[in-house]
Amino acid sequence: MIKISPSILAADFSRLGEEVSRVEEGGADLLHLDVMDGVFVPNISFGAGVISSIRRRSALPFDVHLMITNPSRYIDDFAKAGADIITIHYESCADQIDVLKQIRAAGCRPSISIKPATPAFVPEPLLEYVDMVLVMTVEPGFGGQSFIPETMESVRAVSAMIKAKGLGIDIEVDGGISPSTIRTAYDAGARIFVAGSAVFKAKEPSDAIKALRNACE
Ligand code: DX5
Ligand code: ZN
Repeated sequence: MIKISPSILAADFSRLGEEVSRVEEGGADLLHLDVMDGVFVPNISFGAGVISSIRRRSALPFDVHLMITNPSRYIDDFAKAGADIITIHYESCADQIDVLKQIRAAGCRPSISIKPATPAFVPEPLLEYVDMVLVMTVEPGFGGQSFIPETMESVRAVSAMIKAKGLGIDIEVDGGISPSTIRTAYDAGARIFVAGSAVFKAKEPSDAIKALRNACE
């Protein structure tokens, strides 16, 4: 079974509550929340306050993607705001294991992400501390970019490492996912799919989510 995690970065922020309800009613499995600090990535999005407001309106598991430097400073804030999964970037700190343990201790599911140019072997020593690996399929920072096909090599490599260790860790992909790109990521081993533009810019989010699922059948 695959999971679709619509990213609210592509939503109309002036009507955020309604936008979240639309994808929730439309069959989303998770809600992807992109937190950007303007330092780790060249863009600023939103923080724990916004997440805590939408938490009151949604029962979906919150898939919080932290694109921030030194994430340990804010883990407890995001846990309190209602995060279920918290992803940190391998490239954003030096103490990844400590931060992943901190996420678990805060009651959330830890996840590690790598940027497209980061070698796929780097998360290997971290696999025992995570429930998910997020392989970025675009450079983090902005929605609406084109899927980078070369990142499929990383998905295949991470998938092989997880299998070799006999672990039950999900692989998520994020960036440029659409009905025409999702299948290659599925075939490479991804099972959780972030989709911003493909879902929120569609006339009917429910049709867009169905089209993503159908492409994997
Ligand atoms: C990019 C974000 C993505 C982005 C995806 O830095 O992590 O989650 O919102 O947007 P689309 O699906 O439009 O590429
Ligand atoms: Zn993201």
